[in-house]
Amino acid sequence: MTMNLIHSSAETSPDETLSFRETIRTRRSVRGFLDNPVPLSIIREVLEDAQYAPSNCNTQPWNTHIVRGEKLRQLSRILHVKNDAGEFTPDFTFDQNDYYGEYRKRNDALGKAYYEAMNVMREDKEGRHRVGAMNYSFFNAPQVAFLFMPSFGDNVRVAGDIGMYGQTFLLSLAARGLGGIPQTSLGFFAQTIREFLGVPDELKLLFGISFGYPDEAAPGNRFRMDRVPVDTSVTLHD
Ligand SMILES: Cc1cc2nc3c(=O)[nH]c(=O)nc-3n(C[C@H](O)[C@H](O)[C@H](O)COP(=O)(O)O)c2cc1C
Repeated sequence: MTMNLIHSSAETSPDETLSFRETIRTRRSVRGFLDNPVPLSIIREVLEDAQYAPSNCNTQPWNTHIVRGEKLRQLSRILHVKNDAGEFTPDFTFDQNDYYGEYRKRNDALGKAYYEAMNVMREDKEGRHRVGAMNYSFFNAPQVAFLFMPSFGDNVRVAGDIGMYGQTFLLSLAARGLGGIPQTSLGFFAQTIREFLGVPDELKLLFGISFGYPDEAAPGNRFRMDRVPVDTSVTLHD
């Protein structure tokens, strides 16, 4: 089913969303979803919100593909095979070894919290692969948004725009009691996903967002990443 078939929500639901502050504080990366799909009318509302994201020169470069149902199950099977075989086809490079100093420490803190929640030891390579592969089951989410983008120059500005769009999408989900997780892991198989969905080669895949109703009991949702104090990130000049 293509997004053209999603009805415009003339019957927009009354605003029962969380307050701005609650929304920001509630949003987290959800790594475990319930089976029930999000109704298309609600997906439409989230997409309408995301459309308001700012972009360099008003280019609105996001090209979003929503995948669900049997199509998503097929894609999951393909991605697991490719991941097990190590057949990566990313559009953009990514190497966690590039992180240094404080950034590396924060990445390590995530790994520790995540693998502890999943009951996997640091030295358990097979266990870590199994946990990583959950990205390709979309953490059981019944729908995924793939965020494709046109390629302009070194793509840094476009990627920034897609990030803004992605966060608006995630906050809209959170405001409605839904959850999502941005996944660079999905971008590791850009070409595979592009071919599977029939997306033209000129559109590049930055990341995907699995989303749905959070399963609060799922082990992947047992931890929450904290933040460094504002003063660590901000310098005031006056
Ligand atoms: C662009 C982007 C890509 C990400 N890719 C992944 C991913 O592939 N798999 C994953 O488990 N988490 C992924 N994350 C989630 C981060 O780990 C998470 O945002 C971070 O640890 C902070 O936690 P929080 O989102 O719960 O606040 C990604 C986040 C962003 C912003």
